[in-house]
Amino acid sequence: MKSRKQLMIATVLAAMLLWSCSNSKGQSQGISSPDGKVKITVNNHDGQIFYAVDKEETKIVLPSKLGFVLKDGRVIGKKMKITNVKKTSFNETWEQPWGEKRLIENRYEEMTVSLKSNAAKIAINLIFRAYNDGIGLRYDIPSQASIDSFIIMDELTEFALAGDENAWWTTAYKGVYYENITQLTPVSQMNDTVSLPLTLETQSNKFLAIHEANLTNYAAMNLYASHGTTLKCDLTPWSTGEKVFAKTPFVSPWRMIIIADRPGDLLTSSLELNLNDPCKIDDTSWIETGRYIGIWWGMHMEKYTWHMGPKHGATTENTMRYIDFAAQHGFSGVLVEGWNTGWENDWTKEGDKFNFTQPYPDFDIEKITAYGKQKGVKLVGHHETGGATINYEKQLDDAFAFYQKLGVNCVKTGYVSPLLDGKERHSSQYGVLHFRKVIETAAKYHIMIVNHEPVIPTGLRRTYPNLMSGEGMRGQEYNAWSADGGNPSEHTTIIPFTRGLAGPMDYTPGVFNFENPVKPNTKVKTTLAHQLALYVTIYAPWQMACDLPENYTGNPSLHFIEQVPVNWEQTKVLEAKIGDFLITTRKDRDSDNWYMGAITDENSRTFDIDLSFLDKDKKYRAIIYRDGPNAGWKTNPTDVNIEEKIVSSDQKLQLQLAEGGGTAVRFECL
Ligand code: NOJ
Repeated sequence: MKSRKQLMIATVLAAMLLWSCSNSKGQSQGISSPDGKVKITVNNHDGQIFYAVDKEETKIVLPSKLGFVLKDGRVIGKKMKITNVKKTSFNETWEQPWGEKRLIENRYEEMTVSLKSNAAKIAINLIFRAYNDGIGLRYDIPSQASIDSFIIMDELTEFALAGDENAWWTTAYKGVYYENITQLTPVSQMNDTVSLPLTLETQSNKFLAIHEANLTNYAAMNLYASHGTTLKCDLTPWSTGEKVFAKTPFVSPWRMIIIADRPGDLLTSSLELNLNDPCKIDDTSWIETGRYIGIWWGMHMEKYTWHMGPKHGATTENTMRYIDFAAQHGFSGVLVEGWNTGWENDWTKEGDKFNFTQPYPDFDIEKITAYGKQKGVKLVGHHETGGATINYEKQLDDAFAFYQKLGVNCVKTGYVSPLLDGKERHSSQYGVLHFRKVIETAAKYHIMIVNHEPVIPTGLRRTYPNLMSGEGMRGQEYNAWSADGGNPSEHTTIIPFTRGLAGPMDYTPGVFNFENPVKPNTKVKTTLAHQLALYVTIYAPWQMACDLPENYTGNPSLHFIEQVPVNWEQTKVLEAKIGDFLITTRKDRDSDNWYMGAITDENSRTFDIDLSFLDKDKKYRAIIYRDGPNAGWKTNPTDVNIEEKIVSSDQKLQLQLAEGGGTAVRFECL
């Protein structure tokens, strides 16, 4: 019997042979990225369309199938003939209203391969783009007599990997809301269907992230490994089994692969944003970034309740206390959860009882928002839907108008329930359409959205920059109550390379009090300096300081959070090993100051950091928040040393990170 490895080699060789034979039949087309390194080849072998991707001499994706199975039995992708090929070039630089960097180069070569299937009587276009940092491909089905409304039962897109690459993956269906611990295995041992982005380290020492962009009226893509190392598309189904209800003219989301030589290059890629449509909001001047605190951690630590009662968190008095603290420490928002009626029910089952315009009697929202206005602090609104989207959509306009009238311009939404409306998955076409409707409606009312329990982001923030941030990963809250003890120390060194590639993360950093009186075995497994560094390593345009005001008062480390920006001119990754450590620097958009965040997993580490990223010929006061000599997540997380020194770009800075530790630095330009 052949071993699994022999079988895999045989499959790869057969695919390559087939590839080279069919090339000679003339139905082979290709494009290369502007720098000539990334190459996409499309091939028609006996009517079956394949694509392949290489970077220089390295095979990234071996010949892989494309196509669809429709409910009426027709298969798109088989018995096809190439009828036309069009190639174009594109080059622009666009400016983000907010983000990890201001200017984004969008430069690619595009190839549209037109195909006709005589059997299925369908004409389609396959659109391929080659960028210096990866590729995109999408399906385009124009209007035509033989196909109008249609139902996709399966998308046949494959990614036949060149080797048994190492994959960081999370289960697509077994967990909820993408809130899972990341697994690291070779692709052939991924024993489950996985969600995107799927990040890979290849045998050829490249780093790949397979994801999708511009998911608007379609089901989210998941992947599973078939025949060893071929990844196959698995679209999240409707409860009735169909995947997508569509109509011509139709375009699919982009299927994309970031191709990087170093892990840090995954983080600085703009491929996902470039594959989305330009901004549809004419005047974006109302869209802001900010730091916020919240009546929130107190609920997760069981100090407060969401519902009204003796421990109610969202009271007028308590909210005003939070507003005072925010005003004193430069936070522009206070999130208040549990302010509206509906929480008194079992809201994870009865989300349809939530009323989004009816505050609890002990929450005087007019008084609170007027008080906030005086102090220059806005309420960050909260719409927990309990997954009841029908109830929410019925109230959507009224709910946003209510907040708008009160000057609330940022709303955190939530969808806690394994299925939306008891039936459909968050990542199904049903969910995708709902999330899109919320963003578009919010934009009408000049409201920004921070989306919890979302469908995984796919870069829609370019088109709707009021989609600020979101969850879709195990956030800090797991360190309050998770029965498995909380997030492992390495968690924050992984998620920027997985979920973080999809878009800003509302991880809610900033724990200063590491005691957990309610669940003593559940812990934050980092040091305080690591918590500070997260403000740089994790990007969010609305960034929370999650802990209680009383835990911040008097602690000099708060100063770092008070000053750290949330909107950047540029971002550089200095050192990174996925799952081990990450050192990121970012330059403020509104000054010449730089910030650095360095984090490690459960192991202590030392780095000599070259400061050449700083602007040349300038001097900086470096204010360094580092793990103290006795720091370590297990025994002494709060030991922090704060030092100052004058530095310039020709110097080095030594970092000593404790177990679960970190360092945060503000480089103040002098
Ligand atoms: C889960 C969210 O992640 C959390 O932030 C929120 O407090 C609760 N749902 C209640 O909405």
